[in-house]
Amino acid sequence: MIILKLGGSALTIKDADKPTIDDVNLERIAEEVSCYNQDMIIVHGAGSFGHIHAKEYAIGETITDDKDKSNKIKGMSLTQASVQLLNYKVISKLHEKNVPAIGMKPSSFIVNKNKRIDECDTNLIRQYLDDGFVPVLYGDAVLDKNDEIKYSILSGDQIITYLAKDLKADRVILSSDVDGIYTDNPKTNPDAKLIDIVTKDTLLTTTTNDNQADVTGGMAGKINELLELADYGIESQIINAQKEGNIKLAVSGKAVKGTIIK
Ligand code: IPE
Repeated sequence: MIILKLGGSALTIKDADKPTIDDVNLERIAEEVSCYNQDMIIVHGAGSFGHIHAKEYAIGETITDDKDKSNKIKGMSLTQASVQLLNYKVISKLHEKNVPAIGMKPSSFIVNKNKRIDECDTNLIRQYLDDGFVPVLYGDAVLDKNDEIKYSILSGDQIITYLAKDLKADRVILSSDVDGIYTDNPKTNPDAKLIDIVTKDTLLTTTTNDNQADVTGGMAGKINELLELADYGIESQIINAQKEGNIKLAVSGKAVKGTIIK
C-alpha cells in the first residue's frame, strides 16, 4: 500500500487572494494518478482553500474571549467547508479518470491535542482500502483537546505520518514543487545539489551547518516527520509534481528522480 501526498501548491493557486483551483495541474495530476497499480491512499493539502480562512480567523491560536471564540467557530465552519469543496473537486476529477476515489473528511473522525493527532479511528479507511477504493483525505481544521485553543489545523503531512504507521504503508510519496531535498535552498542558490538519499546521519551533518534554515528550505518539518517514519521501517520519497510523468512513475512503482528518506 502506498500513500501519496499532493501538496496544496500543486492543486491550487496558493498565493491567490481567494480559493482558486489550478485546473491545468489538477487535470494532469489526476490523469497520472489513474496509472496506479497498488492499494493507495491520497492525502491532499489545502492550498488557498484552507490557508486563507485559517489565517484570517487565527485557528490554532489561544482564544482570548467569548467574542473571539464565536469568531473562531465561524472560521472553523468556513475553513472546513472550503477544504471539503476542494476535496470534492479533487475526487470528481479522479472519477473522470476512473479512479474509485472516496472523500473522507478528517475533522469528522480525527481530534487533535496540542495540534497533534490524538484520536483517529482508521478502521473505515482500512475497510475501504481492502475493498479496492482509493480513500482521499486532506489537511483540515479539527477540534483540539487543549482548552486554550479548542481548534487547530491538521496538515496533510501529519495525516500521512499517522496513517503510514497505523496502516503499515509500504511507501510514502510526497509531491512538492522542487525535485527533493537540496544541500541549500534551490530557489535562491543555483549551486544547490539534490541529495539522493537522506538518513538520520545525513541530517546530522546538515543541521550542524550554520545556515540551517537555508539548508532545509521550507522542508525541515517534513524531513523530521519522514525520518520518524524511516525509524518505523517505512521509506518515503519527495518528488516534483510539476514535472510531467513523475507522479505516474511513482504510483506505478517505478523509479523517479527525487530524495529518498530511509
Ligand atoms: C493545511 O493543510 C490545512 C488547512 C489550512 C485547513 P496542508 O498543510 O497539508 O496544506 P498545504 O499542502 O500546505 O497547502
